[in-house]
Amino acid sequence: MMRSSLLYLSRAGWARQRLTHLPGANRIASRFVAGETLDSAVEAVRALNAKGLLATLDHLGENVHTEADANRAADAYLALLDKIAASGVKSNASLKLTQLGLDVGEEVCLRNMRRILSRAASTHNFIRIDMEGSAYTEQTLRVFRTLRAEYPNVGVVIQSYLYRSEQDVAALAAEGANIRLCKGAYKEPPTVAFPVKADVDAAYLRLAKAYLDAPNTYIGLATHDDKMIAPLKAYVAERNIPRDKFEFQMLYGVRPQAQEALVKEGYKVRVYVPYGTEWYPYFMRRLAERPANVWFILKNYFRR
Ligand code: FDA
Repeated sequence: MMRSSLLYLSRAGWARQRLTHLPGANRIASRFVAGETLDSAVEAVRALNAKGLLATLDHLGENVHTEADANRAADAYLALLDKIAASGVKSNASLKLTQLGLDVGEEVCLRNMRRILSRAASTHNFIRIDMEGSAYTEQTLRVFRTLRAEYPNVGVVIQSYLYRSEQDVAALAAEGANIRLCKGAYKEPPTVAFPVKADVDAAYLRLAKAYLDAPNTYIGLATHDDKMIAPLKAYVAERNIPRDKFEFQMLYGVRPQAQEALVKEGYKVRVYVPYGTEWYPYFMRRLAERPANVWFILKNYFRR
């Protein structure tokens, strides 16, 4: 109930307008967002790198409706890639296709993605295409495949809550794609996604193991859930799966001690570091994943 309400609010323009204009709203967002500027985000990455953690930087934004906004988002990614190269921080980048113009037109999005992927190639970097709501799954995978035929330095995300992911994972494994596997963060109907969490979790383990077993693949295991992480650690140990075939991934501000513990055990761990002024939908999805955070945040807000 709470999850559904928060996911509804994450897409409601009126709520975004009111909540983001509350005094101190940016401070609340800083629980999950590494500041509003590229410089603040790069400093956050530097601090993570010092603890042995890698990063993926996300210039926040989604569902832009004009070509000019999509082009501006692409420019922000070019600046981000240049800044990574100049600063020497260990980070790649993650982005959403609706930020680069998918709702305006696939050609607009492809043009912007080619600009970004060319710059990523020249700075020896990698771009991860996040997965959005199920209305975009088919198109996102199509755009990913078009781009991957031209640029090897691109990967995509699969969500274990979708019924279709079993087939998508089999196809992407056969293609040798680099994927991130997550459970899925959007509000989806039972016609496309498992409505029961236990089924999402079971699918996560099944899909992760299938990908770990596939030759010539790489997987980012994106989860904060010990019920996923522990069995997957056991699985890779049992099967002698080399550690350069996968990495764990977690979100900035979520379970930082668990992130560091995995590094100490010798695993590659990447932290997803979002920044920028467009933090509202991202922030609300994080609250929806763990409604207990709502009370924590309200308590801190009124205590100030
Ligand atoms: P789950 O929600 O099942 O919770 C298990 C445990 O993890 C909780 O009991 C708690 O201990 C901890 N936990 C989880 N979320 C927390 C939070 N917000 N605060 C504090 N503790 C928390 N989704 C998507 O649809 N498309 C995408 O592209 C991505 N990309 C992505 C990248 C990375 C690096 C991560 C880690 C996640 C995503 N996601 C995503 C989000 C993902 O789909 C999912 O919603 C969240 O990771 C929550 O699921 P978990 O598997 O982490 O645990």
